[in-house]
Amino acid sequence: MQVHLYDSAEQVGQAAAILIAAQLIQKPAAVLGLATGSSPIPTYQELIRMHREGVLDFSSATTFNLDEYCKLPVEHPCSYHRFMREQLFDHVNLAPESTHVPNGNAEDLAAECSRYDRAISRAGGIDLQLLGIGRNGHIGFNEPSDQFVYGCHVVRLTKSTIEANRRFFDTEADVPREAISLGVGSIMNAKRVLLIATGDDKAEAVRKAIREDIDPATQASILRTHPNVVFLLDRAAAARL
Ligand code: GLP
Repeated sequence: MQVHLYDSAEQVGQAAAILIAAQLIQKPAAVLGLATGSSPIPTYQELIRMHREGVLDFSSATTFNLDEYCKLPVEHPCSYHRFMREQLFDHVNLAPESTHVPNGNAEDLAAECSRYDRAISRAGGIDLQLLGIGRNGHIGFNEPSDQFVYGCHVVRLTKSTIEANRRFFDTEADVPREAISLGVGSIMNAKRVLLIATGDDKAEAVRKAIREDIDPATQASILRTHPNVVFLLDRAAAARL
């Protein structure tokens, strides 16, 4: 695995955007796996800038997001559908039908999970998967557990994640308790994985993922077995390495 350190979250975002741009230039019809949360925002801002300057064309690309809350209206300010529109989709030339976010409001969530995994396979699999990391080491919404789950599935969020994500909602009671997430197998199937972590609240998760045993208690630790994974960290996130 490769680990690169930067002085600031903005630089991490620039480096991630450069790698995503390189992917799109090499393969304009690339399939990108996208993430939400505060970590990828500088990356998306940089991608938007490159697109506005005419350097980056998304018109042939396809995107699949990692996860979505269950039973949160897509128009809710905290839904990942809305986040992606506001932070990226509305500002670049991705075809709306080429962007995919799991439907957390599907009546049959298990069927939605199978449909989502099939759609990724039909698109040819993910070329480049962008990831953040939870304070508890989660990737997507794959929470600490005694196992790695292969496919897309419904997850019960842990107390730590509900507390971490509470900052986006009015009250903690408003944070959904369940989400749909790509499984670790689906993430590991991506040809290339790019994990970004910034801020000192990620330092312990980053240390466990990189330095401790590969263990589903820190789901990101499995990324070390991926043949093409890059961690982009700011100094605060790398402080315990
Ligand atoms: C969220 C998302 C993850 C994200 C993580 C970190 O719960 N499901 O995909 O990587 O938590 O979020 P942030 O970047 O805001 O710290």
